[in-house]
Amino acid sequence: LTPENWRRVDAYFTDTLVGHDETLEHAVADQDAAGLPAIEVAPVAGKLIHLLARISGARRVLEIGTLGGYSTIWLARGVPDDGLVTTIEAEPANAAIARASIDRAGVGHKVEIRIGRGEDVLPTLTGPFDLVFIDADKESNALYLDWAARLGHPGTVVVVDNTARGGDVADPAVTTAQIEGVRRGLAMLGADPRFDATALQTLDRKGWDGVAIAVLTEVVEGFDD
Ligand code: DHB
Ligand code: MG
Repeated sequence: LTPENWRRVDAYFTDTLVGHDETLEHAVADQDAAGLPAIEVAPVAGKLIHLLARISGARRVLEIGTLGGYSTIWLARGVPDDGLVTTIEAEPANAAIARASIDRAGVGHKVEIRIGRGEDVLPTLTGPFDLVFIDADKESNALYLDWAARLGHPGTVVVVDNTARGGDVADPAVTTAQIEGVRRGLAMLGADPRFDATALQTLDRKGWDGVAIAVLTEVVEGFDD
């Protein structure tokens, strides 16, 4: 396995299944031009969250971490015309770039950007959300998962980006705040009865990473087992 052959496969899947989309590529170009980090989801991963929205019949989506709006556009295209994606972005400058790209994509009427840190904005939201995509500061993943459970309903789909991080997640020598946050989130997905979850390793144009996918369960209050 070499970078060349997995990137070739990613390009092949992208060309064959995802296609090329000027609006999405424009969003990435504007994000790059504004100096935002190139950490948006890969096209194959954007299509994955889009398909999960459609498969689950999601009408209301919550995204934590807008960045330049690339994944937001994918999600907005996955909800019906009267659906809504609420996306939280801590950086007002990022939100401005995202708003322009989302409007240019023709999905502006389906997207509400809430500017602020997740921990401040989440308590102000009213659910229920049918799908939650967590892709922000990794240190807060467990906090975001708790809010996903509170703002969701049984059957809500929860997706967490960046769960392998080049293999660091399972390397005990790596103890950064980010990786500890990823681990706390995964431990919660495994142990908290409100979630049923799995995770997959991914090798796409962004390299070696992973995505966790969960569903919110029916938790009966007062029963711990
Ligand atoms: C980082 C964050 C992301 O959401 C991602 O997809 C890749 C990298 C980061 O903060 O390094
Ligand atoms: Mg990410």
